[in-house]
Amino acid sequence: KKVVLAYSGGLDTSIILKWLQTEMGCEVVTFTADLGQGEELEPARKKAEMMGAASIHIEDLREEFVRDFVFPMFRANAVYEGLYLLGTSIARPLISKRLVEIAEQEGADAVAHGATGKGNDQVRFELAAYALNPDIKVIAPWREWDLTSRTKLIDFAEKNQIPIAKDKRGEAPFSVDANLLHTSSEGKVLEDPAQDAPDYVYQRTTNPEDAPDEPQFVEIGFEKGDAVSIDGQAMSPAEILTRLNELGGQHGCGRLDLVEGRFVGMKSRGIYETPGGELLLEAHRGIEQITLDRGAAHLKDELMPRYAELIYNGFWFSPEREMLQAAIDRSQEHVTGTVRLKLYKGKARTVGRWSEHSLYSEAHVTFEDDAGAYDQKDAAGFIQLNALRLKLLAARKRRLKG
Ligand code: ARG
Ligand code: SIN
Repeated sequence: KKVVLAYSGGLDTSIILKWLQTEMGCEVVTFTADLGQGEELEPARKKAEMMGAASIHIEDLREEFVRDFVFPMFRANAVYEGLYLLGTSIARPLISKRLVEIAEQEGADAVAHGATGKGNDQVRFELAAYALNPDIKVIAPWREWDLTSRTKLIDFAEKNQIPIAKDKRGEAPFSVDANLLHTSSEGKVLEDPAQDAPDYVYQRTTNPEDAPDEPQFVEIGFEKGDAVSIDGQAMSPAEILTRLNELGGQHGCGRLDLVEGRFVGMKSRGIYETPGGELLLEAHRGIEQITLDRGAAHLKDELMPRYAELIYNGFWFSPEREMLQAAIDRSQEHVTGTVRLKLYKGKARTVGRWSEHSLYSEAHVTFEDDAGAYDQKDAAGFIQLNALRLKLLAARKRRLKG
């Protein structure tokens, strides 16, 4: 049996690699992706070689991740339960897509991942894999093995000569998932939602209280809903998100402490850092303010929670997500222009926006003389007809009371 494993190079997926070989009798192919998690990938290659991986795939997916997954999602202004910018959720379908493609290329009949049986990630990995290859088999060791405690895991690692970093011998302090869009931390010291998260949990943002006392301004250029430039300089999608992460991180933007409802039914508490994403969301809303029609904008806002839930629950590769995407993409035709953000002490605020495609008409809205652009008398009939039902209701109420 040949299986392609989503391999990070960390202790858990190294144990999984060995377990697949020794307990399941598998030939293991490893796949390690650079999604912008900010870790060296060569150590993962060395470790996989040392453990006798049948073949090793290491790929830089940063541009594809931002261009084909993050940006389409940001066109929708997607947030889950009002706050979560879906940084882990949106990365899983891409990893699964590559797992399935590599399996086909290597003649493997299965893929494997290191997500537990309690979370969302198992669902996302597997729904995506099955949507792309109905015959693929999935192995989820966390749901199957009897390594049910940290001690048993460490024993297994030692017995199999898997190198264990010193700080991993004891309990790891919390579980981290990182990519170009965000860093998420869950579990262990964070499991009591009544307790403030210790400062060392935060890994890529300055504490807003320690952020610069001088505000910084940044201009983000958009074309059809996607960011294409920063301060007038054209950049690729991954370059833009990288730069926005630096700026947002310095000013302490994008921190979130959230208790969310997992798809499997339980609630979980997480600390999120999405510095660039926070800037991008604010700026995208800023440019939509002047370029989107009200009807389109409001419909989009109604669809958004549904769209965000589909991504959170792992239905990226589903017809309903694609239908919503088509509607969202259609709305972005004129979402082109520039937004000026002010970054200060953990907050990114839109302070200016302009566009050739603007619907904003100062001639109509001005408090000064509008030179006949708008006839205020028209509003009287508009209000009378809108009030008709309300008047009939009020009259009935009065009649039945009296
Ligand atoms: N709760 C987040 C989600 O479901 C993050 C999950 C992975 N994070 C982690 N630290 N293991 O998208
Ligand atoms: C996991 O359970 O592997 C991480 C958390 C999640 O998937 O929700």
